[in-house]
Amino acid sequence: MRISVAIDGPAGAGKSTIAKIIAKKLNLMYINTGAMYRAVTLEAIKSDISFKDIDKLSSLIDKMEMHFERDNLILNGIDIQEELSSLQVSSNVSNYAQVPEVREKLVYLQQKMSKKFDVIMDGRDIGTVVLKDSPYKFFLTASSEERARRRHEELISKGMKVEFDEILEDMKKRDFIDTHRETDPLRKADDAIEIDTTGLDIDGVVNKILEYIK
Ligand code: DC
Repeated sequence: MRISVAIDGPAGAGKSTIAKIIAKKLNLMYINTGAMYRAVTLEAIKSDISFKDIDKLSSLIDKMEMHFERDNLILNGIDIQEELSSLQVSSNVSNYAQVPEVREKLVYLQQKMSKKFDVIMDGRDIGTVVLKDSPYKFFLTASSEERARRRHEELISKGMKVEFDEILEDMKKRDFIDTHRETDPLRKADDAIEIDTTGLDIDGVVNKILEYIK
């Protein structure tokens, strides 16, 4: 039996930071499913494919070989992780992620990875759809201001020039689309443990999760 840990929650709740640390501690492969939706968005924008053009989107995804190496997404042999955090990708990704055909293809790839490796996955539908049989499900939350502040710090530390207000606005817009879309909206799985990370430091959240898993 493969081990799988599911981490869901809205943008900026700390999912990826926490998941990467737990992956190292428990020797799991970290699968950043948001990066996969972002990669589809990036490639679609580059090829000028609208999220409404289902046929073109489907064949685009069929040509994308995605896997993870050292927490980074490798697309057709190239590490594209850096490109995935641009504001252009961030502000368009929710539109592409709400397309049922896109979700179906990415969920299939994610489930295939979870059968092959011991994984910790973060996203929006991991506990409810992708790893719905996992015994270890966590739902991280934090206030939208706190989440925007974290994302702002992260992008600034990567040398990007971004305004806090722009990030907060974008985050609220994405939260709305992610929680209101018809297919697999962001919601806490009934059997997930909810952790509000506002005011908690990283170690505090990691330890809480490790305690539950052990
Ligand atoms: O985690 P993130 O901010 O990089 O995710 C980018 C977008 O992808 C997010 O707005 C919603 C979508 N997403 C999703 O719909 N399902 C997932 N499992 C992961 C991300």
